[in-house]
Amino acid sequence: QKIAVCVSGGGTNLQAIIDKINDGTIKNTEISVVISNKPDAYALERAKKAGIDAVCIRPKDYENRDDFANTMVDTLKKHDIDLVVLAGYLVIVPVKMIHEYRNRIINIHPSLIPSHCGMGYYGLKVHESVLATGNKVTGATVHFVDEEADHGPIILQKAVKVHENDTPEILQKRVMEEAEWNILPEAIDLIGAGKVKVIDGIAHIEE
Ligand code: GRF
Repeated sequence: QKIAVCVSGGGTNLQAIIDKINDGTIKNTEISVVISNKPDAYALERAKKAGIDAVCIRPKDYENRDDFANTMVDTLKKHDIDLVVLAGYLVIVPVKMIHEYRNRIINIHPSLIPSHCGMGYYGLKVHESVLATGNKVTGATVHFVDEEADHGPIILQKAVKVHENDTPEILQKRVMEEAEWNILPEAIDLIGAGKVKVIDGIAHIEE
């Protein structure tokens, strides 16, 4: 399967995907393009180092959302993309793109949705919220993207313990290392193997 990875930041999730394709953990998959909305995202550097086509598509470079949406979809079609992976991508996915790629766009969110998610919950804010509510367990979720933020069919989740004296930064790092960097590659591999089906809004995984 050909995947596009959309990024906005450091690209550690992208790096996990690159590394697990290279070590054979993720089968039947190639990253055809990395798309960022930030020209200076280190994730673009990681893509270039790995010899992967890296493009910057910035919403504010377009007259309106439609032009941005069309450019995104055209780029995906040009690369013959089967699956879009949002990995720390901080742009609201245009509805046109969701319609064109229904149940073929996945996102990694650093909490156990439906907790601590939705508009405004991204990056450290998610972990600040977890600590503020005194949760003893948090984690990460891979889900299909639909028209609502952090809301589509859940594919995989992995729980992570919250420790006494955790700061948001320490907790974020643990969630990335113990959860994100494992379940995102695993979900890509499962989808590549045709093992994930969405029935009545629920994602089912063939064992
Ligand atoms: C992190 O906050 C991570 O939890 C979330 O996206 C942000 C950046 O990740 N998934 P990355 O290092 O750019 O993959």
